Amino acid sequence: NWTMAAFLETERKRIRDIVGEKGQVLGAVSGGVDSTVAAKLMKEAIGDRFWAVLVNNGVMRLNECEQVKKDLTENLGINLTVVDASQVFLDGLKGISDPEKKRKFIGGKFIDIFEEEALKIEAAAANSDRAGKIEFFLQGTLYPDVIESLSFKGPSATIKTHHNVGGLPERMANGSGLRLIEPLRSLYKDEVRELGRALGISEELVMRHPFPGPGIAVRILGEVTPEKVEIARRADNIFITEIRKAGLYNQISQAYAAVDPSRAVGVMGDKRVYGYIIILRAVVTIDYMTAEAFEFPWAVLQKVMNRIINEVDGVCRVTYDVTSKPPGTIEME
Ligand code: XMP
Repeated sequence: NWTMAAFLETERKRIRDIVGEKGQVLGAVSGGVDSTVAAKLMKEAIGDRFWAVLVNNGVMRLNECEQVKKDLTENLGINLTVVDASQVFLDGLKGISDPEKKRKFIGGKFIDIFEEEALKIEAAAANSDRAGKIEFFLQGTLYPDVIESLSFKGPSATIKTHHNVGGLPERMANGSGLRLIEPLRSLYKDEVRELGRALGISEELVMRHPFPGPGIAVRILGEVTPEKVEIARRADNIFITEIRKAGLYNQISQAYAAVDPSRAVGVMGDKRVYGYIIILRAVVTIDYMTAEAFEFPWAVLQKVMNRIINEVDGVCRVTYDVTSKPPGTIEME
């Protein structure tokens, strides 16, 4: 695409001008579209003087951390450090059932861990043949984020504290003296995807659904325990796998399986058993401000139900959430 190729070239040059010959850049990545495209662009512009950090917060999806690591390092050649802090997060989440407190804890702990890692990387960077201090911080801000932060904060902004990789840098940028670089600032999501393609990022990655920073933690109603994380992961993986198999992934904007920890009754063999309720959610939306539940072919839902009941221990009901937004939100809490 002519426009994207031109944008790519201009942006690459602009980044080189800002960062200079020796400058180093730090950035958090999540495996999501925005941070991956921003990271690959950085890689193209300044090579290994861009340092990406992925924090495993213990509430990522099944095999997600390994997959993201593989995509970013093996496939995209990005200079990545993975920090496995999953135990710290899972320990800290014990006893917290309020959704906002979960978000606050995960967001705060993420920044602590990221800053700790940044110091280590800074030391490594200073001693490397690339030399120099890290002076810049990469953020995958998109145009709609820019607009939203300029405009009146609507209800969604005040009802939930949204923080993802994009919400992190307030403290990084304002508190650490790092200068912000936001190469995607003028782009809409579909343009970021197009840029991703121009950068050689796989179609699967470029089309990934958004995933919230607090991850599976906001998809488990109430307290997060390792058992429920495991159940949510397995159920979610089955749901997404079947959605892909049915060729529906790109028609859906976001989909996941949540865990309702209330125990429902079921019959297995000739015994009554009690198990968690899985709530499937899949929505179609343009701007994520309003959304409709996706109209599944019945057979797909049935297949998902069968697989979850048979393959995920501790679950005895599967439901599909048909609530639109509003009044529902996309996430469960
Ligand atoms: P809601 O649930 O508000 O979600 O309808 C709208 C979009 O925002 C995402 N979301 C979050 N993203 N941290 C994030 O990074 C959060 O705490 C959070 N809560 C919701 C949600 O996945 C959807 O894409």
